[in-house]
Amino acid sequence: MKFFIDTANLDQIREAQDLGILDGVTTNPSLMAKEGIRGKENILQHYLNICEIVKGDVSAEVIATDYEGMIAEGKELSLLHSQIVVKIPMIKEGIKAIKYFSRQEIRTNCTLVFSLGQALLAAKAGAAYVSPFIGRLDDVSTDGVELIRSIVDLFHYYGFETQVLAASIRSSMHIIRCAEAGADVVTCPLQSILGLIEHPLTTIGLEKFLSDYRKLNS
Ligand code: E4P
Repeated sequence: MKFFIDTANLDQIREAQDLGILDGVTTNPSLMAKEGIRGKENILQHYLNICEIVKGDVSAEVIATDYEGMIAEGKELSLLHSQIVVKIPMIKEGIKAIKYFSRQEIRTNCTLVFSLGQALLAAKAGAAYVSPFIGRLDDVSTDGVELIRSIVDLFHYYGFETQVLAASIRSSMHIIRCAEAGADVVTCPLQSILGLIEHPLTTIGLEKFLSDYRKLNS
């Protein structure tokens, strides 16, 4: 399973990259705004900065919601850097745009996926990734991880090459459950990744090892 970080914060991307386990980055307009990145030139430069830190796929989302606009923006984003994957929203025009990019061999990530039917259409159109938002589903009393499991099963059954990218991860437990459900990728906040490291018995065990060592070696 691949680990992506879901942020536009360069320090957090560097910290995850330093762990040696990072495979890519996802961003969205809200995450870019959170970092105060505004204006086309600054936004494009920020994607380039991210690509310099991580040697993996970097999802960059289009703002347009009409077909022509998505095609124009997506082309520009894909030409920016070979690591860029064009993120397209799951709307009618988006499906058409994904199909267009798939014919051009430009990789896309279909975002804002909340149902099996949406995932099926995105895969059929040729998306490289589909991004089901599991945290937001949990927020409305629907089991997000169960959707991941259903999409993984469906894609395996039909042999779709589209990767299931579990998004809107809110906790370390989400990561573990997505791994069990067979997600190809999880995109997570840094804290959820770091949370996987922690266990109280590890902390207690290490303290004991070190205090026993110090008793004889100080
Ligand atoms: C996915 O690519 C999105 O950026 C992201 O996971 C959205 O998550 P949120 O529900 O935490 O905003």
